[in-house]
Amino acid sequence: MLLKISSVLTAERLKTVRSILKDTPFVNGTLSAGLAAKRVKNNEEVAMNATQMNQLNNIVMASLVTHPDYKSAALPHRIAAPFYARYTEGMEYGDHVDDPVMGAADRYRSDISITVFLSGIDEYDGGELVIKTSFGEQQIKLNAGDAVLYPSSSLHHVNPVTRGERLVAVTWVQSMVRSAEQRELLYQLNTARESLLKARPEAAESKAVDICYANLIRMWSEF
Ligand code: NI
Repeated sequence: MLLKISSVLTAERLKTVRSILKDTPFVNGTLSAGLAAKRVKNNEEVAMNATQMNQLNNIVMASLVTHPDYKSAALPHRIAAPFYARYTEGMEYGDHVDDPVMGAADRYRSDISITVFLSGIDEYDGGELVIKTSFGEQQIKLNAGDAVLYPSSSLHHVNPVTRGERLVAVTWVQSMVRSAEQRELLYQLNTARESLLKARPEAAESKAVDICYANLIRMWSEF
């Protein structure tokens, strides 16, 4: 499932993040790339040891991990510290799949890839995130502050930026539910469950759906 979430960052938080990034040094993005990705990656990233990292993460991650759509779609077990990437004119990231296992001492499996868009769509040309899905290619370019979630197993690339600057935060989630298909079912069921519980909290069918949801999570979650 490919899920777009609007306004993960409020306008105010976005403004703060952008002003922090203005004073943050970026390094060559290939430093953090695996063997295969190195050959196709051409961007810049905030160094993991940059002093601004904590401040950025506090704003971006706090906004993301508390978002109800994120929680319902990702069913997160662990989430990685994000990368902040910059693509200026001529930069791109060719076709690749993200590394399956990430982290050093603290390893995790990447089930879901997330991009939070930090530049407005009018600030750059090109730079679309292109994801191959079973229904064809999806080209994603969202408003500043919006995010997209997609299975980490998908082949994807970032088109060359032909004007301006594309800033994004990218991160990965190890989900409690490994299968993308099962996560999608749970997301749909939870959407129905929430509206049933809101509209008819005492109805027997609302309770039945709620119990099914809880027990499917119990059946399918692993740690
Ligand atoms: Ni990627």
